[in-house]
Amino acid sequence: MALDVSTGEKALELADRLKPCAGMFKVGMELFYSAGGDIVKELKNKGCRVFLDLKLHDIPNTVAGAARAITGLGPDIINVHAAGGPGMMRSAAEAVRDEAERKKIARPLVIAVTVLTSIDQKTFHEMGINGKIEDFVVSWSEMAVECGLDGVVASPAEASMIRKACGDKFVIVTPGVRPAWSGAGDQKRIATPSGAISAGATYIVVGRPITGSADPLGAAGKIIEEIKGCAG
Ligand code: C5P
Repeated sequence: MALDVSTGEKALELADRLKPCAGMFKVGMELFYSAGGDIVKELKNKGCRVFLDLKLHDIPNTVAGAARAITGLGPDIINVHAAGGPGMMRSAAEAVRDEAERKKIARPLVIAVTVLTSIDQKTFHEMGINGKIEDFVVSWSEMAVECGLDGVVASPAEASMIRKACGDKFVIVTPGVRPAWSGAGDQKRIATPSGAISAGATYIVVGRPITGSADPLGAAGKIIEEIKGCAG
């Protein structure tokens, strides 16, 4: 469940309401930049699992430092952009391992963002990139495995190909999830919650269909009902 809200108070209130339904809360840039790192600790103190979605992307040394700093906040998952390259991914994974060992805390999983779910094939070509999005996503996922990462963020459309290429243990997180009753917004490569789970997603990320609903708990409940009994 993506806590894409602008204050810590709103995030904690939503978390209290949705805790019975949400397996994990995602703290993204909007919330982190407005509320600061304490929001991660506060959610953890409430017993929530946290995916800290800051999509780190810089030179290896800078990303390693940032990864070390956010490991100290105690998230369960953090992420970096695969587009930062193998050196950057390796540095992030090593920094997280070292910092978790040094602080004697559980190591967060480190996953790589492949191609954003808001990008479709036409946009990909407009960006000057030839080739199919799914081929990039699969080869970047294989690169993430080689660099010692635990998984990737990708669209539901690529989940089954990644599962086949990277194995059963690889973590696949899919945003771009839209129940049949909600609008797509800016997301392009989308699937329903059951479609994403059946395709092999380990976790699905849902934001606006829940946060934008007049009844967030009811919306989350409907999604849970939909995915109950799905393979994955
Ligand atoms: O509101 P919506 O369900 O579209 O939210 C999706 C969430 O997943 C957002 O917080 C967005 O930042 C995040 N995300 C994404 N695509 C990625 C990685 C993360 O949409 N590739």
